[in-house]
Amino acid sequence: MTKQILVTGGCGFIGSNFIRYILEKYSAYKIINLDELTYAGNLANLKGVDHLPNYQFIKGDIGDKELVERLFKEYKIDVVVHFAAESHVDRSILGPEAFIKTNILGTFNLLEMARKLWLENLLENPPLFLHISTDEVYGTLGIGDPPFTEKDAYAPNSPYAATKAASDYLVRAYHQTYGLPTIITNCSNNYGPYQFPEKLIPLVIYRAYKGKTIPVYGEGCNIRDWLYVKDHCCALDLVLHRGRPGENYNIGAENEWRNIDIVYLICDLLDKKYPSKVHGIESFRELITFVKDRPGHDFRYAMDATKIKTELGWKPEYTFEKGIEETIDWYLNHMDWVENIISGDYQKFFERYYGMTL
Ligand code: NAD
Ligand code: DAU
Repeated sequence: MTKQILVTGGCGFIGSNFIRYILEKYSAYKIINLDELTYAGNLANLKGVDHLPNYQFIKGDIGDKELVERLFKEYKIDVVVHFAAESHVDRSILGPEAFIKTNILGTFNLLEMARKLWLENLLENPPLFLHISTDEVYGTLGIGDPPFTEKDAYAPNSPYAATKAASDYLVRAYHQTYGLPTIITNCSNNYGPYQFPEKLIPLVIYRAYKGKTIPVYGEGCNIRDWLYVKDHCCALDLVLHRGRPGENYNIGAENEWRNIDIVYLICDLLDKKYPSKVHGIESFRELITFVKDRPGHDFRYAMDATKIKTELGWKPEYTFEKGIEETIDWYLNHMDWVENIISGDYQKFFERYYGMTL
């Protein structure tokens, strides 16, 4: 069966991995990738698949009413997979406005256009709306607390998390009120190829490679639950085909790490792969610098993924050892990709947030 899939934010980290995954697996599906190409979006992330006849890139804003309406009509969209967002917590602390605009108003525009065109009988069926969200909407956990389940109340703490929570509520409301078939997935921290180097894992790899200090917030004791991006894509594939409209699915690998332990692990693996001596040091661990903590820094996230496992049969395929090793190798082999995407905008952000040069 064919599907016309509107992917938003497909030039970002998870969106580009998802497009690669779908194009490889389903030759009958057409992907229309709507991306504004913010600092986080890069055409280079789709190099090698962007020439395929069943792939189409459209540069534009998800908040642009006319454009979104035209795309729904022209391509007879029957599925929306919505990744586009401002996604970096630290940037949301410095400037929340862009997060309100894209994450809340942009999501509203997509939902409203899907509803309007369906009600006006301009689409054959109501489009399935798969909304990609985060574990951060649930707030923070203490050390002995059970992982978040789909039944937990939302308690977002950063402007980023608050805008994602708001967009989740809009998605839910469009299902409850108008009957639009929507599904929300809430995933834990992803890592893997094509992640913008403002996020912890690629930032550590890149800065170590360059022999620069590695900033760790506070004492490095905050805990995140890490999932390899390809396992996330596989979960989304299952949800897309077998998920129940109106439901939320938590996704996570039961793979909790303190930040400092992840940083040690990356430094130790790098020590074996790439000689730190080129920077006049014995080990990359010497580059670790503890810096001012993130304001409102959530202490711990952990996801209970029982529902997606039992209902849809999903489980992560990658062990963390395999995933992190592949990720480090990918970055070491793609330093030109990293250098090319680091724009003047990123340099300005880095200097403002960390108070040091990139
Ligand atoms: P990213 O920042 O790497 O990519 C975001 C993409 O959206 C970019 O290509 C950007 O150009 C595009 N974009 C931003 N504003 C836009 C707009 N107004 N119109 C069109 N395109 C726009 O993000 P990511 O890490 O790939 O995250 C993707 C989604 O998954 C987000 O919704 C995020 O909240 C969610 N998520 C991310 C993680 C994670 O660990 N990265 C975990 C759980 C959920
Ligand atoms: O949990 C899912 C979320 O994961 C997604 O919704 C977000 O889009 C994504 O950015 C990510 O958010 P985090 O804030 O958890 O990711 P980040 O990589 O920014 O930080 C991971 C942890 O590392 C966090 O506790 C802060 C810490 N950190 C981060 C940076 C960038 C540092 O100690 N030093 C740093 O320089």
